[in-house]
Amino acid sequence: MSTCIIAPSILSADFARLGEEVDNVIAAGADWVHFDVMDNHYVPNLTIGPMVCQALRKHGVTAPIDVHLMVEPVDRLIPDFAEAGATYISFHPEASRHVHRTIQLIKSHGCKAGLVLNPATPVDFLDWVLEDLDMVLLMSVNPGFGGQAFIPSALDKLRAVRRKIDATGKSIRLEIDGGVKADNIGEIAAAGADTFVAGSAIFNAPDYADVIRKMRVAVAA
Ligand code: DX5
Ligand code: ZN
Repeated sequence: MSTCIIAPSILSADFARLGEEVDNVIAAGADWVHFDVMDNHYVPNLTIGPMVCQALRKHGVTAPIDVHLMVEPVDRLIPDFAEAGATYISFHPEASRHVHRTIQLIKSHGCKAGLVLNPATPVDFLDWVLEDLDMVLLMSVNPGFGGQAFIPSALDKLRAVRRKIDATGKSIRLEIDGGVKADNIGEIAAAGADTFVAGSAIFNAPDYADVIRKMRVAVAA
């Protein structure tokens, strides 16, 4: 199993103090910044775009920025996010007409590519493209909002995707997003996830470092 990555979702951060929030969460032990992009079309909510990603880089954020695109169409935004300093760019297959082409587009701009499966999206979507991916992101809530409850069927899905990834022999990260807390992250890790997005669990807590520490202990247990 690869190293545990904790990726706080800034969707639950205080947007009026975003640079400071990101500095604080990285200082508290987070590994990546999870950056949720919503377009009020693919999902019924509207958030932030490449200018905000670029502003975080200008502010001095050096941690990997994990861009989760919940937008349709996808391709037009990829060069902008690459230019703005994204490290990973992940997208939903339902939002791209040509999934293989979009993956290659992300990689051709020097970013790592991820494919995101919604709770009801079959894992078969990974067939024929899995080996081209740097990451698979499984949604354990329906995309669009922070603070929702973890959907339990995501555990079986994690096990199924873990088997597929292991069969490739490649180092492809398996990320989980939605409803991840210190008290369920242990079973999520045991099901095969190695990369954990957590928004409300971290940003709604009084002490970010304390939550992240508890999460790491539960993953290692
Ligand atoms: C939902 C987003 C998530 C969300 C997670 O569409 O992709 O990243 O912010 O929030 P929590 O951890 O609160 O479920
Ligand atoms: Zn997300």
